[in-house]
Amino acid sequence: MTYFVNAQNTITLNADKGKDIINKNIYGHFAEHLGHCIYGGFYVGDSNKTIPHKDGVRLDVIEALKKLKVPVLRWPGGCFADTYHWKDGVGPKKERPSMLNVWWGNVKEDNSFGTNEFLNMCELLGAEPYLSGNVGSGTPQELSDWVKYTTHPNSSSPMTDFRQRNGRPNPWHVKYWGLGNEAWGCGGNMKVEYYANVYRQYATFMTNWNNSDKIFRIASGASDDDYHWTEVLMKELPAGMFDALGLHHYSVIDWSKKGSATDYSEEEYFTTMKKALFMDELVTKHSAIMDKYDPQKKKALAVDEWGGWYDVEPGTNGAFLFQQNTMRDAVLAGATLNIFNNHCDRVKMANLAQIINVLQAVILTKEEKLVLTPTYHVMEMYNVHQDAMMLPLEVTSNKYILGKDTLTAIWASASKDKNGATHISLVNVNAKQAQSVSININGASYKTVTGRILTSDKMQNYNSFENPNKIVPVTYNGAQLNGSKLNLNIPPYSVVVLELK
Ligand code: AHR
Repeated sequence: MTYFVNAQNTITLNADKGKDIINKNIYGHFAEHLGHCIYGGFYVGDSNKTIPHKDGVRLDVIEALKKLKVPVLRWPGGCFADTYHWKDGVGPKKERPSMLNVWWGNVKEDNSFGTNEFLNMCELLGAEPYLSGNVGSGTPQELSDWVKYTTHPNSSSPMTDFRQRNGRPNPWHVKYWGLGNEAWGCGGNMKVEYYANVYRQYATFMTNWNNSDKIFRIASGASDDDYHWTEVLMKELPAGMFDALGLHHYSVIDWSKKGSATDYSEEEYFTTMKKALFMDELVTKHSAIMDKYDPQKKKALAVDEWGGWYDVEPGTNGAFLFQQNTMRDAVLAGATLNIFNNHCDRVKMANLAQIINVLQAVILTKEEKLVLTPTYHVMEMYNVHQDAMMLPLEVTSNKYILGKDTLTAIWASASKDKNGATHISLVNVNAKQAQSVSININGASYKTVTGRILTSDKMQNYNSFENPNKIVPVTYNGAQLNGSKLNLNIPPYSVVVLELK
């Protein structure tokens, strides 16, 4: 396929100006008891005879996720979290009570996947758990008991005896704790002034057992551009009582008409991208408010839900939020992760919604079959940035013009890893025109450049159960290194990661 190449974009790589580390938790994920994220996605039950598993957890899923280096996994919600009573999900399975999952289709939740199953699974995966506590319909004691059950030393309380009786000989390591989810909505429809007080009450009773295993408390943060929410929390929460504020932002065309995940027009693609790229303004403005109260940036911004949200696949349960994933999602993910990398002085965690079978999933499952989505491949290509030093870029980009509206075409970020290799990730958001990019390298000299690209001949393409490898990353030889200049062309709606040594 030939594409018209636009005028040159220029980037300056300041290879000697890095000072901030890209926290690996920016590459975090989110798993909710919603549709087939847990049941059928992660968990197929410990008596399953057809799908290989360990204690009911699918081994194909674990193997695929290990390649992503999933650093942190948020659970059990989402909206589900504020209806969840963790004690219903521990102990002998046949004695666990069932409940209705009222947010997600009123389906029966039999509690067969609970705290022990989740935390053991995180150990198998090598990911840190992030438990989202029930503040909307729970009690401070219930949350404080959960902290004790999971993290306190043996024989220190009835909760730790309970843990041992349930077959876990020692505490798990659980650092990340959310105090409610979307407290402004499904988490209780609270006003922020009220939530700030509730937060303080709950946080008071969440006790570390010593200073070396400190818990990290994340307040339920703003929706999109609700800057008042961030302002009030920064003002009202005592510094010693929180470590991060959340932020949720979904890329939705229109909540009443989200559009198909696969059968979309360029206009719909453009609108999704516009909503996604708004993340740059959101983190900039929320961070600026946090800077007023916390100029030393001790508190983090955790974008603990983000991603594209479309109509469910035809014929599937509307409450299960199962959607396919195309090159639009790959571009969305690549551009958003570049934004997070570039804001890593404040954004220390982000959790893509959601990991399997829900919204912008990295994995789709259908019985024993499994598909890795284009978003999976972006997450895998970008994992080189995890815990690397962010190198600032100055980008002068062409515009992607559609009708009277424009978007920035090139979104990029760079980092230097512990072995000294530099990685630059670049996304061409323009759906029609390839972009030629000239990178001026300052402060380092490199001998070699290699790369990988994720691209496809149609942006609506996706990986299906019938054709799971239609879109996979391939070697990219399109970058030329000449002294301190690097030149490349990026096809429309494509993602490239370069390695310089
Ligand atoms: O990710 C799906 C839902 O979106 C979550 O449960 C909720 O927190 C958000 O509104």
